[in-house]
Amino acid sequence: MYAERVLSGMRPTGSLHLGHYHGVLKNWVRLQQEYPCLFFVADWHALTTQYDDPHGIVGAARDMVIDWLAAGVDPRRATLFVQSKVPEHAELHLLLSMMTPLGWLERVPTYKDQQERLEHKDLSTYGFLGYPLLQAADILIYRAGKVPVGEDQVPHIEFSREIARRFNHLYGREPGFEEKVSEALRRLGAKRARRYGELRTHYQERGEQAAIEAAQRLFDEVPDLSHADRERLCGHLEGTGKMILVEPGALLTAAARMPGLDGQKMSKSYGNTITLREDAASVTNKLRRMPTDPARVRRSDPGEPDNCPVWQLHQVYSDEDCRAWVQQGCRSAGIGCLECKQPVIDGILREQEPMRERAQPYLDDPRLVDEIIADGSGRARHLARETMREVRQAIGLDYA
Ligand code: TRP
Ligand code: SF4
Repeated sequence: MYAERVLSGMRPTGSLHLGHYHGVLKNWVRLQQEYPCLFFVADWHALTTQYDDPHGIVGAARDMVIDWLAAGVDPRRATLFVQSKVPEHAELHLLLSMMTPLGWLERVPTYKDQQERLEHKDLSTYGFLGYPLLQAADILIYRAGKVPVGEDQVPHIEFSREIARRFNHLYGREPGFEEKVSEALRRLGAKRARRYGELRTHYQERGEQAAIEAAQRLFDEVPDLSHADRERLCGHLEGTGKMILVEPGALLTAAARMPGLDGQKMSKSYGNTITLREDAASVTNKLRRMPTDPARVRRSDPGEPDNCPVWQLHQVYSDEDCRAWVQQGCRSAGIGCLECKQPVIDGILREQEPMRERAQPYLDDPRLVDEIIADGSGRARHLARETMREVRQAIGLDYA
């Protein structure tokens, strides 16, 4: 059995900030140790809302990849690529578009939300409506089992599952499917075939996920069972036909709420960010100017950490002792605000130092980044082509 693939994408929106680091990148760095991972720059997705201003995309893509590398994403472990360098995504998107009911797209919650949020822009376009389907193609083309995303993206993963199910249902019945299932069952041997029958009943009557897992283990016991037979048996068990596209699961990133410089969530649109590799002088300066408890007008006024955005940063960056020092010193006016900010400044600079170091070779020689992207895109393309061969075959568009 192969390890489940992890896939995630990010739009190239310019420099990433510490919110991205705590919310997403740290998670990617962890996942790359445990799974085969694919991380990509969703440049076509950027076009769905930025079609009128595409010129910054290539530069933003490169900067973003440098930020990934700076954060510790390792191109020897994970495959890093650019969506538009794997044009098979577009082919799958097109083929899926033929069988996607319009209503499904119109009902994706981000569709109306985003249109309202970006009111100044004309987003009544074909591409914008189809963007969750493009995302589904991104995921399904790698048969990714796990997709790390934030909460806002969960409906898109659910949508991708529905698309996979519909595709398998429509095209998963190869000619002679039933006979091929019978042959595969013979290969399992009578005893295992009986057990398989029981598991199938369990699954179909009660939808028990455990039954699928048990069946997988059963297949593992038969080393000469071909990949195709395995898929057929899975499809027969689930009642969907052959499983050509794999239903992905969302890997919900625990919402690490990274506070920004004003106490709101750190976000580019609030202008309250510290970028991943921001230089030390600028970080220090921003922190020093950061607002504190508004009730603490004079140094001699006591303050309340709960009303202070700096306290939120202490919760990310400071240890127990330091936090006790803040609580006590703030409420008794024993410490000044600049004094209180210093451990946070130190903590951020300490966190950023290895990132700046890791980024340096790529800033010195951007060709290194281009090589990583070219190499990763080549590897991704190889995987994507494999799926597309089977997809074309399932639809019957495989010309000799
Ligand atoms: N839609 C995602 C976002 O806006 C980016 C994205 C595109 C993505 N394709 C993906 C994420 C595939 C995960 C998997 O953040
Ligand atoms: Fe905020 Fe610290 Fe000043 Fe208290 S002492 S108001 S926690 S910056």
